Formats: sequence, C-alpha cells, structure tokens
Amino acid sequence: MKTYSVAALVGSLRKESLSRKTANALAALGPASLKVQIVEIGALSLYNADEEATPPAPWVEFRDKIRTADALLFVTPEYNRSTSGVLKNAIDIGSRPSGKSVFNAKPGAVISVSPGAMGAFGANQHVRQMLVFLNVPTLQQPEAYIGHADKLFDQQGRIAIESTREFLERFMQSFADWIATNAKN
Ligand code: FNR
Repeated sequence: MKTYSVAALVGSLRKESLSRKTANALAALGPASLKVQIVEIGALSLYNADEEATPPAPWVEFRDKIRTADALLFVTPEYNRSTSGVLKNAIDIGSRPSGKSVFNAKPGAVISVSPGAMGAFGANQHVRQMLVFLNVPTLQQPEAYIGHADKLFDQQGRIAIESTREFLERFMQSFADWIATNAKN
C-alpha cells in the first residue's frame, strides 16, 4: 500500500485547543495510507521579509518539514470571522521567498473548528482563499465546518459524538482519495 505523509497545520497554540484535538482525532481516524503529523508553528516569529537574507532557524525547519510532506491539512479555529494570526503567519512564511513556496502543488484540505454554531465558516473560506493563490489543489467535498466542538470530545480527547466521528472518517477517506489523485509522487 502506498502511504502519504500529511503535514497538519493547527491554527491554535492553546494547550486545550479544540483545533488540536480535532487534528489528533483526524490522525487517528484517517485511513492507514495517511501518516498525519502536526507541524508546530508556535515558534515562528512574525514574518519580516528583511530576515530572508538569513532566515531564522524555526522558519528553515518549518519550510523543510512542509517541503518533505506529500499533502497539507489545515485545521483552523475562527478569530473574528477569519483564521488565526498564527496560522496566517505560518502560511506567509511557507509561501516565501516569492517563487519558492513550499506549499506549491501539494494537495490540501481544510477543516474549521469552533464552539460556535457556524463551525468557523468564515475562517474556513479565508484559508481556502489563500490556497487558491498558493496553488494548493484543495479538497472540495465534503466541506468540514465543525461547530459545537466544545461538546465533541471525551476526557481522552476521542470524538464522543458518533455521527461526527463517521463524518470525519468520510472526510479523511475523501482526502486520501484526493491525495492519491493529486500527489506528485
Ligand atoms: C474567538 N472565537 C470565535 N469563535 C467563532 O466561532 N467565531 C469568531 O469569529 C471568533 N472570534 C474569536 C476571536 C478571538 C480573538 C478569540 C480568542 C476567540 C472563539 C473561538 O472559537 C474559541 O476560543 C476556540 O476555542 C478557539 O479555538 P481553539 O483554541 O479551541 O482551537
């Protein structure tokens, strides 16, 4: 069986982050062909093009990890109807220098997570907007807006609601099919 490495970017630094719990649940629920690993973004300083002459070590490490991944999974919370600053910053860093984006042509998927009822729809769409420009072929369906996420997990961080667990399994299977169709290797 061919396997694919999936770099998961989680847009929250909070220890008890619902986005992180979702990313961990997706890694466990996904088909065996997908090896999902969270690439940490909390140590990335704010993007400043003046630093490209000698990029900070965390930028270099982050770019290397994304470069070697086969696919990208963006797990975003919603801040003021958009994605979080930390996720935007990581995307900006990976996208530069111009013409050397580490995201280019890697298949991707977006899932948004919120305790609110609308499942962070605004954040999801803003991430998708960036992925158009970054030439990341992005899974269209199923769209994944996870609302009421504060009620979703048990004490061990497992998905406690059966219908959502089944949906997330379907989402990951669709993502695996999407990667197999669009991955470069
Ligand atoms: C929020 N939150 C929020 N929720 C939402 O559904 N829509 C929104 O626009 C916002 N805006 C917002 C702004 C800021 C600055 C914060 C800190 C929070 C609430 C947010 O969904 C909640 O804190 C989540 O738990 C954040 O995701 P993690 O950290 O649990 O992954």
